[in-house]
Amino acid sequence: MLAFLTACAPEHDEELVRLREEVGSLRTLVGPPPSSLDSLYPPAAPAPVLLMRMIELGDAMSGIVVDLSEQDVEHVRAGLERFKTEYVALSRLVPEWEGAYPAGPVDTLIAAVESGDPARIGAAFAGVGAVCHECHVANMAKVHYRYRWGDFAGINLSDPTSGRALSYRSSCKSWKPPSLESVPTCGNSNWRVPVRTSRHFRRDSACSLPRA
Ligand code: HEC
Repeated sequence: MLAFLTACAPEHDEELVRLREEVGSLRTLVGPPPSSLDSLYPPAAPAPVLLMRMIELGDAMSGIVVDLSEQDVEHVRAGLERFKTEYVALSRLVPEWEGAYPAGPVDTLIAAVESGDPARIGAAFAGVGAVCHECHVANMAKVHYRYRWGDFAGINLSDPTSGRALSYRSSCKSWKPPSLESVPTCGNSNWRVPVRTSRHFRRDSACSLPRA
């Protein structure tokens, strides 16, 4: 029995470590964006600082591609310098994301450009692009949601049949205009509530997402 336990323990430990990592990344994925972003967006900041710095980073990256296509080596070098400076600065802007800007792919890109080998340059660009993509997929929507969209709870509408004031959530429960009939609005069929129908607005009997 003891031999059996000893044999299984490392396997269980590995599984536990793997599961902890998985739960950690799922928590990060569904959790809110880092709170230090608060200071980089209005109202704390006068402008959306992170967004503007990102546009700068994207500009620097596409500038390199343009200069490469024109075989303008001098500007490619200057562009890479500008890109790396911005990349490093961004890695320090949001402490929680510091590890999301690895140095390796950028150094590989610089070495590839120096080599002048188009295949190496292409692969190295893809490596840098993957860094951008990974964070964008995980965080862009959350950042838009928190800092760019209004608060849906603050939207007030009036019921077109009764004129009664409705919160966004209750209006979603009860009606939608005929032009939106095919668009599912509420994902939860428990949100369906009876409401008076009229010629223009009908009770949303299809207030649930179509099942796959
Ligand atoms: C650690 C996270 C992270 C990394 C890494 C990252 N970004 Fe971003 N990026 C964001 C977030 C979050 C936004 C959304 C900001 C907003 O909309 O306010 C964004 C937005 C952008 C935008 C603006 C898109 C638009 O039109 O709204 C550009 C351009 C951009 N990033 C370029 C890049 C490039 C190029 C890289 C890689 C070299 C990169 N980003 C790496 C988080 C990241």
